[in-house]
Amino acid sequence: MKIFVDTANIEEIRQAWEWGLIEGVTTNPSLVSKEGKRFSDVLDDICDIVDGPVNAEVVSTDYEGMMREGRELAKINRRIVVKVPMTAEGLMASKSLSSECIRTNMTLVFSSNQAILAAKTGAAYVSPFIGRLDDIGNEGMQIVREISQIYRNYGFRTEILVASVRNPIHVLEAAKLGADVVTLPFGVLKQMMRHSLTDAGLERFLKDWEKVPR
Ligand code: E4P
Repeated sequence: MKIFVDTANIEEIRQAWEWGLIEGVTTNPSLVSKEGKRFSDVLDDICDIVDGPVNAEVVSTDYEGMMREGRELAKINRRIVVKVPMTAEGLMASKSLSSECIRTNMTLVFSSNQAILAAKTGAAYVSPFIGRLDDIGNEGMQIVREISQIYRNYGFRTEILVASVRNPIHVLEAAKLGADVVTLPFGVLKQMMRHSLTDAGLERFLKDWEKVPR
């Protein structure tokens, strides 16, 4: 399972990349707006650091606008994957951009039926938002289970990118279901590393080491 980091913050991306733990980045308009920089500058900075897919979202809601933005984004760097929203126009744009060899990510996916349509467009990734489903009392991971089975049944090549991840349990569940990618907020990436027994064990080892004659 590949790990992407879900942030537009350069310091977080740089740190995660230096740790050698991530293979790509996802951003969205809300994450970009927190940074107070021009979108293209944010993307340039990310692409300078990360040698992997960098997901950047269009904000047009009409087909022509999405196509225009998608082509512009793809020109910034060949590693950019264009995120399009799961609407009729988004599906059309995903199909057209894919046919121009511009990779797409169908985002804001909340049902397995939407994921079937995303795969039909030739999208490189489909992004089920599991945390937001959990928030409204659904079991978000259930759709990852279904999408995995459906994609396997028909050999769809679209990769399942588990998004809206809120905690390490989500990561574990995604991994058990064989998701292709999980995109993590920086905080969840750090949570995954930590265990109180690791900290206590290291402290004891270092204390005992002081007693070793030098
Ligand atoms: C994915 O690409 C999205 O940026 C993201 O995972 C959304 O997560 P949220 O529901 O925490 O905003």
